[in-house]
Amino acid sequence: MRRSSDGALRFVSSNRHKYDEALPVLRGLGVRVEYERARLQEVQSDDLAVIVRAKARDAYCRLGRPVIVEDDGLFVEALSGFPGAYSSHALRTIGVAGVLKLLGGNGDRRAKFSAAIAYDDGSEGRTFVASVRGMISEAPRGEKSWGYDPVFVPDGQDKTFAEMGPDQKIGTSHRTRALEAFAEWYVG
Ligand code: IMP
Repeated sequence: MRRSSDGALRFVSSNRHKYDEALPVLRGLGVRVEYERARLQEVQSDDLAVIVRAKARDAYCRLGRPVIVEDDGLFVEALSGFPGAYSSHALRTIGVAGVLKLLGGNGDRRAKFSAAIAYDDGSEGRTFVASVRGMISEAPRGEKSWGYDPVFVPDGQDKTFAEMGPDQKIGTSHRTRALEAFAEWYVG
């Protein structure tokens, strides 16, 4: 088990939702983690792993202690993978409605949600990427939600992430899969 000096890793993000969903997963796998709010430098790349590695370096340099950071992307097949690594920008600009509009009546609704988790402790850096495949719904569904939750239906489910309770979403999400891969390495 790799441990920081006071025992808790810092999960660095400006998005508290990510931490709220990561905490029960990491805790359940024996990883102590605390939230550190920060807006990290984001390099331009089509590759989530490249982006998240640079973010983790930035986070470590700011905090001087072991960190994990996360970067996600929604890759829509019929849009050649858009918005992908630009998902955050797309959400801020055209929004979920804009992505649905781009898809229009396209019968091919396949997509994947990917999460990249990077660890950095100053001497060692590791990256873990995982995805969940699913469909983009015809219209937003579900109330308590954030980001693309109202339009993503993971394979094998009939609900969008936004229609699920927290446990069901955490049980099926891209984030959980990437965190599990991280924890397997970290806890050893
Ligand atoms: P980011 O660049 O890592 O912040 O993530 C890309 C975009 O995907 C952001 O707009 C997030 O809000 C969104 N996103 C990431 N994970 C999820 C999720 O689990 N549900 C809904 N939206 C998400």
